[in-house]
Amino acid sequence: MKATDLLKKQHRQVEKLFKEVEKTEDPKQRRKLMDQIAADLKMHTQIEEEIFYPAVREVGTAKAEEMIDEAFEEHHVVDLVLAELPQVDPEDERFEAKMTVLSELVKHHVEEEEEEMFPMAEKKLGAERIKDLGQQLEQMAGGGGQRRAA
Ligand SMILES: [Fe+2]
Ligand SMILES: [Fe+2]
Repeated sequence: MKATDLLKKQHRQVEKLFKEVEKTEDPKQRRKLMDQIAADLKMHTQIEEEIFYPAVREVGTAKAEEMIDEAFEEHHVVDLVLAELPQVDPEDERFEAKMTVLSELVKHHVEEEEEEMFPMAEKKLGAERIKDLGQQLEQMAGGGGQRRAA
């Protein structure tokens, strides 16, 4: 699969989870969905940071550099919100507020990736390289984050 298609597929999956968490009032269900969102986002940002972003940076233009720097910073902000969520009671109003902020952050970031970064990467890196990167992403995603724990 193309690297960009694999990453987009993961974006859709997380969006689906955000919709589900919005729909439920059940604290247990909220906690479960939130844990799933956190795990999926961690895995996704990790494979982007370790494989995809360095490849995009290789494009070497000022625009590519700027995009990647910004993307790293946005991941960092996502990490900060994720780190706070386990301490927030799913029945607390702040839980909803934090989920909304996280969802909007992710939405903005995903839009920039899909509308700017991915098309640029496909054009500049070429079909072969994008497919090759897709394979690497798939392998790493399949590890389910075990690499970090080791
Ligand atoms: Fe990202
Ligand atoms: Fe992404």
